[in-house]
Amino acid sequence: SAGPAGPGALAGTTVTITAGGTREPLDPVRFLGNRSSGKQGTALAAAALAAGARVRLIAAHMDVPAPEGVELIRVETALELRAAVHRAAADSDVVIMAAAVADFRPAQVVETKIKKRDDEADPVITLVRNPDILQELVRARDEAGTGTPTLIVGFAAETGDDTSDVLEYGRSKLARKGCDLLVLNRVGRSLVFGQDETEVRILSPDDSPEAALESAAGTKAEVSARILARITAELAA
Ligand code: CTP
Ligand code: CA
Repeated sequence: SAGPAGPGALAGTTVTITAGGTREPLDPVRFLGNRSSGKQGTALAAAALAAGARVRLIAAHMDVPAPEGVELIRVETALELRAAVHRAAADSDVVIMAAAVADFRPAQVVETKIKKRDDEADPVITLVRNPDILQELVRARDEAGTGTPTLIVGFAAETGDDTSDVLEYGRSKLARKGCDLLVLNRVGRSLVFGQDETEVRILSPDDSPEAALESAAGTKAEVSARILARITAELAA
C-alpha cells in the first residue's frame, strides 16, 4: 500500500469524513472552540473523491473551503456532529473521524448575552462531557451486528509526556476506542494545527508490538492519499 489509491479504487463505496473543530455555545454570541483548521479532513475528502468514492463531509468549523464534489453537511456542536455521523454511518462503507470534537461543553447555554454586572459575582463556567462519538460508532456496529460501516477510522494527536510516549498513548487510545485504524499524529506547540505538512503513523489492532508501523510524511494531501490507499487495502482484505 505504498502508492496512493488509484483512480477508481474506491468506486462504488461511500466514505463519510468529519472535519474541522466543533464550537460549543456559551450564549448567543460566544462559544468554546479549538484550533482545528479542517485541512486534514478536507484533504482526506479530496483524496477519497480522487479515488472515486462518494464522499460525505460532515464539517464543523473550518478555515478552508470544502472540496467541490462532496456532499456537505454543516454542523456546529459535538452533539450535532454526533447526530449527523450516526445518520450517515448507516449507509457508509467507511467513516473517518478527523474532526476535533470538543471533549466538554458548557453545562448551560445562556439564552441571552452574558453581561458584566457590578452587583453580581463574575461567572463560572461549568463543563459537562460530550459523548465519545467514535466509541459509540464502534459499539453500535458491534451491537447491531451489521458490520456497517466496514471500516471506522480514528485520528489522534498526542504530545507524549513523562508517563507515556506518543506510541503508547496511541495504542491505548486505539484499544479504548475499538476502531479499525487509528491515524496517530505527534503534535507540539506549533505542529500540525493549521499546518500543511504532517507526519503520521497508522495503527491497527492486528499490529504485533514489533511490527514496523506504516508511516507517512509530507503535505496533508500526500498523507491523505496514503491513508486512503491503506483504507482501500483494508476494504479489499
Ligand atoms: N472523538 C470523538 N468524540 C469525542 C472526542 C473525540 O469521536 N467526544 C474522536 C476524534 O474525532 C478522533 C478520536 O476520537 O478521531 C480521538 O480523539 P482524541 O481527542 O485524541 O481522543 P479522546 O478520547 O478525546 O482523548 P484525549 O483525552 O486525549 O483528548
Ligand atoms: Ca479529545
